[in-house]
Amino acid sequence: MFNPSKIRLDFPILKSGIIYMDNAASSLTPEPVLQKMLEFYHDYRANVKRGVHRLSQKASEEYEQVHRKVAKFINAKSDDMIVLTKNTTESINIVANGLDWKKGDKVVTTLIEHHSNFITWLRLRKRFGIKVEVVKPDKEGIFDFKSFEEAIDDKTKLVAMTHTSNVLGVITPVEKISELAHDHGALFLVDGAQSVPHLKVDVQKIGCDYLAFSGHKMLGPTGIGVLYMKKDVVERTQPLCIGGGTVTKVSSDLYSLIEDSRKFEAGTPAIAEAIGLGAAIDYIARVGFDGLMSHERKLTEKMCRGLRDIPKIEVYGPKDHKKRIGIAAFNIINFSPHDVALALDVSANIMVRSGNHCAMPLMKELLKKPEGCVRASLYLYNTMNEVNELISAVNEIAIS
Ligand code: ALA
Repeated sequence: MFNPSKIRLDFPILKSGIIYMDNAASSLTPEPVLQKMLEFYHDYRANVKRGVHRLSQKASEEYEQVHRKVAKFINAKSDDMIVLTKNTTESINIVANGLDWKKGDKVVTTLIEHHSNFITWLRLRKRFGIKVEVVKPDKEGIFDFKSFEEAIDDKTKLVAMTHTSNVLGVITPVEKISELAHDHGALFLVDGAQSVPHLKVDVQKIGCDYLAFSGHKMLGPTGIGVLYMKKDVVERTQPLCIGGGTVTKVSSDLYSLIEDSRKFEAGTPAIAEAIGLGAAIDYIARVGFDGLMSHERKLTEKMCRGLRDIPKIEVYGPKDHKKRIGIAAFNIINFSPHDVALALDVSANIMVRSGNHCAMPLMKELLKKPEGCVRASLYLYNTMNEVNELISAVNEIAIS
């Protein structure tokens, strides 16, 4: 049984009375995750994949196991590859820099992307003369499938899109786009930074070639992320960095790279952080994804409805709450978003993000809000009381 009151006890930071609603930027980390990382430092602190002694063996075993846990979590096949990276941004950059681009290749992306899944492609335009086509949704962030049919053609090498917008919260039809991309021989990359922590993401169901996400938004520590690669695309994707741990043989004039995830994990990795990510996955499995999703759905509905009822407010994203995750981006007319965020902290202990949310094309060209907006984003430890407090605090500011 999903029990938010019990879950909250695992997050000592909440005891101070804060209302944490900046989860889309970074989630909190529960004690069992911290304890597991501490266990590494206390009991088997050593480098991985580089020693026969027992501490290194134990650390390597724990580190390697995380790859399997991640694979299971996103339903990857056993011969697909899970690479542990620094974060979603690094994962996307591996793909951008690892494919063999030539002039005339095309990347299709969308106007609701985070900069990490946007400027990476614009940079390739500068470097290799590729074409970047940006598909636009309606104002709520909902796409017309026809726009993708028009944009994706046989010159398209890659379609790169987010599974859920970090501003609008909208869930995109990745399964359908994946099929369309593959019909044209294009690869399909999904930015799962905001979806993997909140939805049951299944790479086989989506059919994507790449999935990028971060540990720190799903109860894990900072500094650890994931790049999932379908088996078929591993060979054509070159690593961003090579060096220690990535080779089978090196002579004075030759080297050969190892053909597993180690090829992409050059140098000493973020060992404790990886182990922490494994513990975060265990934690989510223990509390249960179905309970988590249904809890967040209820809170999201209340949050969006409650905010929309406030005078002088604009709430962005889909009106149909079933089409979104627990993110509410909004502005109070004639108030700067930073002032609202600051007022929520000072007057109501509520932590939210304000600004352009690393999504300037969306803010400027879709919402026409170059000054940005306020964003409240939920996670499993938020409660209905907290949502009510948010609504009432925003209302107070709006009528002040
Ligand atoms: N990508 C994070 C956000 O949306 C940092 O806030």
